[in-house]
Amino acid sequence: MPTAYRTIDARILAALGGIVGERNLIAGDPERLEAYGHDETAEKRYAHLPEAVVKPASTAEVQAIMALASREGIPVTPRGAGSGLSGGCVPAMGGIVLSLERMNAILEIDLDNLMVVAQPGVVTNSINEVLKKEGLMFAGYPMSLETCFLGGNVAENAGGGKAVKYGVTSRYITGLEVVLATGEVLRLGGKLRKDVSGYDLIHLIVGSEGTLAVVTEVTLSLLPVPKRRAVLLCSFPSVAGAIGAVPAVIKESRIVPTSVEYMDKASIIATCSYLNEEIPYQKAEAMLLIEVDGNDDEEVYRAYEAIGEVCVARGADPVYVADNRTTMDRIWNVRRNIAEALKVRSPRQSLEDIVVPTAAITAFMARLEDIAGRFGVEIPCYGHAGDGNLHATVVKPEAWSEEEWHERLTAILAELYEASHALGGRISGEHGIGNKRLAYIGIDLDPATILLMKRVKAAFDPAGILNPGKIFPD
Ligand code: LAC
Ligand code: ZN
Repeated sequence: MPTAYRTIDARILAALGGIVGERNLIAGDPERLEAYGHDETAEKRYAHLPEAVVKPASTAEVQAIMALASREGIPVTPRGAGSGLSGGCVPAMGGIVLSLERMNAILEIDLDNLMVVAQPGVVTNSINEVLKKEGLMFAGYPMSLETCFLGGNVAENAGGGKAVKYGVTSRYITGLEVVLATGEVLRLGGKLRKDVSGYDLIHLIVGSEGTLAVVTEVTLSLLPVPKRRAVLLCSFPSVAGAIGAVPAVIKESRIVPTSVEYMDKASIIATCSYLNEEIPYQKAEAMLLIEVDGNDDEEVYRAYEAIGEVCVARGADPVYVADNRTTMDRIWNVRRNIAEALKVRSPRQSLEDIVVPTAAITAFMARLEDIAGRFGVEIPCYGHAGDGNLHATVVKPEAWSEEEWHERLTAILAELYEASHALGGRISGEHGIGNKRLAYIGIDLDPATILLMKRVKAAFDPAGILNPGKIFPD
């Protein structure tokens, strides 16, 4: 990373305006710039104002912006909907925010190849809305699906609530068009279900948090929508009971459910009250939301019976089955809104994203409880238990001063991440490192690995202008 970047002056602003048009350029207006200086991360200290925001409408415009920025040495941070949770789209070093909001077209629905070609600014859920009548779907299911953009899902390799059965975003990306930091356009892959022609650059770029290239077009493979589904809501008398049942669900039922989501009492209560919603057994200590899908009633019935039995044997009491759309949607809506509800309830917080091997989540939860107890801090927890991916959310106790919060949070996070690492885990399963977790990356990655990653970064972006100040500490 260069030690100094050029600041944006009138000459550069004029050049940017010439590329995207004055209407698609924001500069000199702190209020409008502020909206592009943060994502959904609660703590404000990760936010940073851009000097300018540009909203290109085409790959050619993105190319021209990157060519200009690399000539002039100005940082560029690509941005989707800003729904991220690690500061990935925050312009940590100032410079240009390249917002992909106007590149929001679904370019092609290819029913013969079962592929969609779309621009990065498409709202993820709208892909499935359009595909509904074809009986097809993109299987990605980030919790922010109604607001997030496809490009952001690609940048962060979004996981979400259906990864147990369907995997994460990268599984479905078969082609990308990207613009490099230096302004060249690459077209990688295509509508291919297999491709070993050279290095797999697609999957290097997916999840690279906007640090390697700007994604300008995405080719996604589709799946048929299962005709039937059902949601089990399993109420447990304890956290350990619910979490302990998770590894048994697949092994003992011999069924791969679509989702195995965990919610603790604090998460459920906060969200039901935030949404003014009621779900069955919302006073439970802990719950598992398990979804199964298939193509006929009988198959889905057998699946949820088998899984329900496993949960009951592990102490679930009672188990509620939702098999009509309205109830399933209401239950999922509660699950999808936990992050927002906890943020509204406790705006001073750190939403975490650790991931451990699924057999280690019981041990991780015990460590979490121990850390919370020793520091005297509330850490509500929920997440994608079936993937070992948990969103422990450290909440600032009112009694702590700013200084105490800052100091103790740093220590708590280090302990949390060390605990996860010791169990074979990582500090982020789906939200990314961004500028939020970069100080801790060394817990997970050894120096040789970090060095190689930095060399990859330098190969893509020799001037270090693309989304600097992310993933690796300087
Ligand atoms: C969720 C987001 C926070 O799982 O990843 O709700
Ligand atoms: Zn999540």
